[in-house]
Amino acid sequence: MAMTVEPRVRKGPVVRNAVGRDGGFRRIGVKRLTPVIGAEIDGVDLRGPLGPEVVEELRQALADNLVIFFRDQAITPEQHVAFGRLWGDLHAHPAAPHEPAHPELMIIAADENSVRANGEGWHTDVSCDPEPPMGSILHIVECPPEGGDTLFANMYAAYDALSDRMKAHVDGLEAVHDGEHVYRGLYANLGVDDKPSYPKARHPIVRTHPWTGRKCLYVNQGFTTHILGVPREESQALLAYLYAHMAQPLFQRRFRWSPNAIAFWDNRCAQHQAMWDYWPHRRFGHRVTVKGERPV
Ligand code: SIN
Repeated sequence: MAMTVEPRVRKGPVVRNAVGRDGGFRRIGVKRLTPVIGAEIDGVDLRGPLGPEVVEELRQALADNLVIFFRDQAITPEQHVAFGRLWGDLHAHPAAPHEPAHPELMIIAADENSVRANGEGWHTDVSCDPEPPMGSILHIVECPPEGGDTLFANMYAAYDALSDRMKAHVDGLEAVHDGEHVYRGLYANLGVDDKPSYPKARHPIVRTHPWTGRKCLYVNQGFTTHILGVPREESQALLAYLYAHMAQPLFQRRFRWSPNAIAFWDNRCAQHQAMWDYWPHRRFGHRVTVKGERPV
């Protein structure tokens, strides 16, 4: 009997709900880098102080574009911390080394002696925390001559691009995010002792962003160990599908650093991955991480 070949079900472009706008800002310049994610900001001096209208426009630019970039910002550690505090209380990393005088200033460094670099796989920062960080502000001071880019991906777009059946399947499921397998022993070569335990939490696979009201995917390869309430094999297969789906270049922007550039990303709706392709060169900076809320 002749088989009927079903036509492939396509309803047009994968990305329809591109975010962002670069007009309508009065205090800052906003140049979108793709229709999907990322904008470069100018006309702002982050050494501060920043007026409330500038802060509100930065908040809008972040909400629209998920990650905003600044160039040539020679801020001090104190100014970095002060900029972070404009967005909320600051988060102390559960494992990573920080500047001795500033527990909020996580050190991001890799050089010829490193055995690893921060953020080499797709992740959102510290999603194992019951209240994971809302945002991270990374100031790179020293760049390698080439390489060391960071990739960012839009998790609203990844959710929107799922089929209606897959959305119905994942909506309402929860997954476990665990810091134990990520952090235990991770910084031993830098002389950092392990904590007795690391954070672990269950979060919805699809969360609703508190600023925009939009749904986005919230599982990541770094921290998510399994989906609750389904057999282990099904959890592994579904997570593998979601990770491959999320990693489509359509949802991404790759950022090329320059000395004193800053990236401010929203961990609730964006994932990121750092390229360690510059060994034996050095890349150095600091990250300030802003506390967030329980995902719902
Ligand atoms: C991180 O995951 O915070 C590190 C990102 C980077 O070094 O670009």
